[in-house]
Amino acid sequence: MAASPVASQRDSWATRLGFILAAVGSAVGLGNMWRFPYVASEGGGAAFVMLYLAIVAVVGIPLMTAEFVVGRLTQQSPLVSVRRLGGKAWAPLGWLFVVCGFGILSYYSVIAGWTMRYAIDAVRNAIPSDSSAYFTAVSSGLDATLFHVLFMAVTIWIVVQGVQKGLERSVLVMMPILFLLLAGLAVWAGTLEGGDPGYGYYLRPDLGALLRPGILAAAAGQAFYSLSLGMGALMTYASYLRSKENLGGEATMVALADFGVAFVAGLLVFPVIFAFDLFDTVSESSIGTLFIALPKGFEVLGRTGDFVDTAFFVLLFLAALSSAISLLEVVVTAMIDRWGWRRSRAALVAGGAITLLGVPSAFDLDFLGAMDQITGNFLLLVGGLGIAFFVGWRIFPQADAELALGLESPGLRRTWGVLVRYVAPVILVAVLVSAWPATWTAVRTLLGLE
Ligand code: TRP
Repeated sequence: MAASPVASQRDSWATRLGFILAAVGSAVGLGNMWRFPYVASEGGGAAFVMLYLAIVAVVGIPLMTAEFVVGRLTQQSPLVSVRRLGGKAWAPLGWLFVVCGFGILSYYSVIAGWTMRYAIDAVRNAIPSDSSAYFTAVSSGLDATLFHVLFMAVTIWIVVQGVQKGLERSVLVMMPILFLLLAGLAVWAGTLEGGDPGYGYYLRPDLGALLRPGILAAAAGQAFYSLSLGMGALMTYASYLRSKENLGGEATMVALADFGVAFVAGLLVFPVIFAFDLFDTVSESSIGTLFIALPKGFEVLGRTGDFVDTAFFVLLFLAALSSAISLLEVVVTAMIDRWGWRRSRAALVAGGAITLLGVPSAFDLDFLGAMDQITGNFLLLVGGLGIAFFVGWRIFPQADAELALGLESPGLRRTWGVLVRYVAPVILVAVLVSAWPATWTAVRTLLGLE
């Protein structure tokens, strides 16, 4: 008998742990490893960390809960569900998610390709003595394209195998390794001579910094990107949930794990920067910190350094891969649920198209930066605003009833309602306004006007 695309035959998670680790895997990515430590040290250290946690609680967790609720409620791709629940007028929101998946993965995979290249080279050779020249050689041109293609091939290969055999099985292996590597490296960084001032630099509580304009937007933007919100990725993952657990509790757990990884990443990066006096290199760019400054520090240590270098890039690679599969999954489920495509066909077609779209980013770092700004810092926020309105105003009673299946407390649900309906939209609009100038510049860059 031919398979029919009814809900009962749709993929689902085998275990609750599988779902949680997959969601954590989506959230924990390159954004945790370099962006958070940076933004935190510049934004007031421990004071910023407190502000960040407050934003995660007030905007991040409620919106993540909102995504989870829609996913489990409809058991369908976000592209299909927003239209089905909201009517025709909401269809563009579903398409925005798909566009974000395309756009973000196209350049994310290029950076992930560098991590793959670095990890492979680190196993085979000693660290190149001129890490800056090495980065320039690896980060764009044919080399970068080759590893971008390879990384996409691995991502497609996992997604082709489906939710349980592909996504779930891979995160069950990858995430524990990632946590162990990160913890091990952070402990190692603690033993470095001369590294201690790094902790002070990272975390000194500078309350004055919180008064700077734009600091709230910086914290909110970072929280949003880091938690993978705004493009239906977590909604897609929740659409494979069957059991009626407390989605607010799941969202809290995922958000805290994501924060934990970001926080510990800072405990790794800053001692290394101080121990090896890498400040000049760091100031060039934030991407440069990971790919130029840290290897420069590791190199001083000889064999130990080679070992640490390998561990570090394997860690980045795993973080990137577990995020990439969720980006591709958004597009793939959309094709499966909307057009009834087979998973393998959807993954190959979507993955192939995204690979092509990434080629300009592999040749031109300015193009890559512009894609990041437009999709990662802007369209995601538009999507998040859409989700807040959709869940908070268009389908609120239904969403609230779905949440209630696992969350009995009326008080907590009422709080959630207020945060999703009023607080999140206000903050998101403020962030969007402050992100607009840089986004406009990026659009001009893409069009070749700058
Ligand atoms: N959260 C990822 C990171 O920290 C990046 C990201 C943003 C993402 N939106 C996403 C990943 C959607 C997967 C899906 O690097």
